[in-house]
Amino acid sequence: MLDTDQKMHAPSDDFAASAHIDRARYDEMYARSIHDPDGFWGEHAKRLDWIKAPTKVKNTSFDYGNVSIKWFEDGTLNVAANCIDRHLTDRGDQTAIIWVPDEDDGSDQHITYKQLSSHVNKFANVLKKMGVEKGDRVVIYLPMIPQAAYAMLACARIGAVHSVVFAGFSPDALAQRVNGCEAKVVITSDGAPRGGKVTDLKGNTDRAMDKVTHDAQVLVVKRHGQPCNMVEGRDHWLHEMEDGVDDHCDPVEMNAEDPLFVLYTSGSTGAPKGVVHTTGGYLLYTAITHEYTFDYKDGDVYWCTADVGWVTGHSYIVYGPLANGATTLMFEGVPTYPDAGRCWKIVQDHKVAQFYTAPTAIRALMGKGDDFVTKYDRSSIKVLGTVGEPINPEAWNWYDKVVGEGRCPIVDTWWQTETGGHMLTPLPGATPTKPGSATLPFFGIKPVVLDPEAGTEKDGNGVEGILAIADSWPGQMRTVYGDHERFENTYFQQYKGYYFSGDGCTRDEDSYYWITGRVDDVLNVSGHRMGTAEVESALVAHPAVSEAAVVGVPHDVKGQGIYCYVSLMAGHDPSDDLKKELADWVRKEIGPIAKPDFIQFAPGLPKTRSGKIMRRILRKVAANEHDSLGDTSTLAEPEVVDDLIEHRLNR
Ligand code: WTA
Repeated sequence: MLDTDQKMHAPSDDFAASAHIDRARYDEMYARSIHDPDGFWGEHAKRLDWIKAPTKVKNTSFDYGNVSIKWFEDGTLNVAANCIDRHLTDRGDQTAIIWVPDEDDGSDQHITYKQLSSHVNKFANVLKKMGVEKGDRVVIYLPMIPQAAYAMLACARIGAVHSVVFAGFSPDALAQRVNGCEAKVVITSDGAPRGGKVTDLKGNTDRAMDKVTHDAQVLVVKRHGQPCNMVEGRDHWLHEMEDGVDDHCDPVEMNAEDPLFVLYTSGSTGAPKGVVHTTGGYLLYTAITHEYTFDYKDGDVYWCTADVGWVTGHSYIVYGPLANGATTLMFEGVPTYPDAGRCWKIVQDHKVAQFYTAPTAIRALMGKGDDFVTKYDRSSIKVLGTVGEPINPEAWNWYDKVVGEGRCPIVDTWWQTETGGHMLTPLPGATPTKPGSATLPFFGIKPVVLDPEAGTEKDGNGVEGILAIADSWPGQMRTVYGDHERFENTYFQQYKGYYFSGDGCTRDEDSYYWITGRVDDVLNVSGHRMGTAEVESALVAHPAVSEAAVVGVPHDVKGQGIYCYVSLMAGHDPSDDLKKELADWVRKEIGPIAKPDFIQFAPGLPKTRSGKIMRRILRKVAANEHDSLGDTSTLAEPEVVDDLIEHRLNR
């Protein structure tokens, strides 16, 4: 149960005095952003370098059937020019990216803005040489290496739309995404070292390409030296393509509403959706949130541990920080390799000022003991951040006391792939925090708590319901790639006039927001979004499976684990071998992050008379809460529940 009765932690006077935003400034700016969005965002848009400055600011409608979101619609700019070129005069020799490889072997790289410029321009010219033009899609399937950022920025430079696919996804998942946006080029690497193990990304790409239904070329970054099978005419090495290529490529003038990228994310039904973000509003929103949420200042080394395959990596490793001329650290490995002190060693080595990670990582490290943390110098840290899932107060307090020595404000940032950037978050010099609460809205964000049934707003404090947003903000997704109807149906149909987040929340007596988790069939496993429907469809694709239902189950480290109920085809018998086979099958179909934690064989699933699976009951059984199953009288065969309880796994 959510315990909102937590001690307030106020920023110190010293911190508040030197911060970009203190409490008074927050109140004043927030009020203005809500009452005069055109004035507020029009002014803040000046932080970007426009080719043609916009004369229009906000033109948006949440009206179901006519949802349309446009910001700065007559402005033009180029994202790569904003993230690189404009910094060259003043900070060309400043480090843009610090790259820390998987092995702790001292081969960390410092890439200056000048070097970044040269890499990105060359990369852009290579893409052009391969025939990529403005509006074409490019899939990026890379480990956490600088070339992932170069590739993204190279696309932005020439107006190509990138779609980054997390390197942990399987060949099938990759193929689905390459087909989904008809990508002209897939960028991958020979091998991806992570936690001391190497994934054969090129091999995965080859298997994916067998299922790609259109002509596409493959560009391969040499990372590891693994042998690759290069297909003549289809596959090219980046270093060979770069040979003799000019390191100047003119940035293409893009409209503020031209797409910047597509990023596939899981929903409650069907295949993952291609979330579309555009150029002007997205860049402005990621830049301003990066600066204010982390209180980023010139000279700070900022580190977000996310992967560029997720939105956090897009907004807060690449675009936000680089738009601000920051030094952003990119880490190839995992927090527990070679041991659980790795993050703090990196903090010490590079004097990291802002550290941003997921609660699941904090919980995992907390379990390894404090010595791994305290043996490294963390005095450079000024702000700690979390993202991706609710953080439990125990983990928050450990992060605060042990990692932050009780002196670093913690920003618990609630947001989504769809929102582009932070929505609810403390500002470190302004907002007293409470462990487990994402606190207050960022500028321009109008959160509301809706009654789940009536869809009406719950006024006042001390209320619980559906978290929705009442008006648009610049970083909002614009559409689902190729399917605007799905966009409207997913986010604007259920609660008319609002953006529906899919999350539940509480607003406490201090107006603070507490996220209670998803209210739909989306799981959050170690901060990774996963549709139950995706895991179910992978399971039923196995010849032994007739039916499957998947629910989330509370998990100490991962937040949620994946619990699968599986009915078998006649002629197949339950066995431990089959369980293992099915778990491996899902892993292979989707990727390691989707591997089931529990598989329970079930002769029958609880269904309503109309045949709908009652997940509420399955969730209760999985969580060992079968004493509070609620009403089962509407079930077609109530007795199947007894069998489920008898054979449940998670006791
Ligand atoms: C969850 C990640 C509680 C939430 C940026 C949301 C959170 C989903 C928080 C989006 C937080 C994210 N507290 N829950 N601070 N941040 N979530 O699209 O359920 O991968 O809807 O974006 O993660 O996940 P996504």
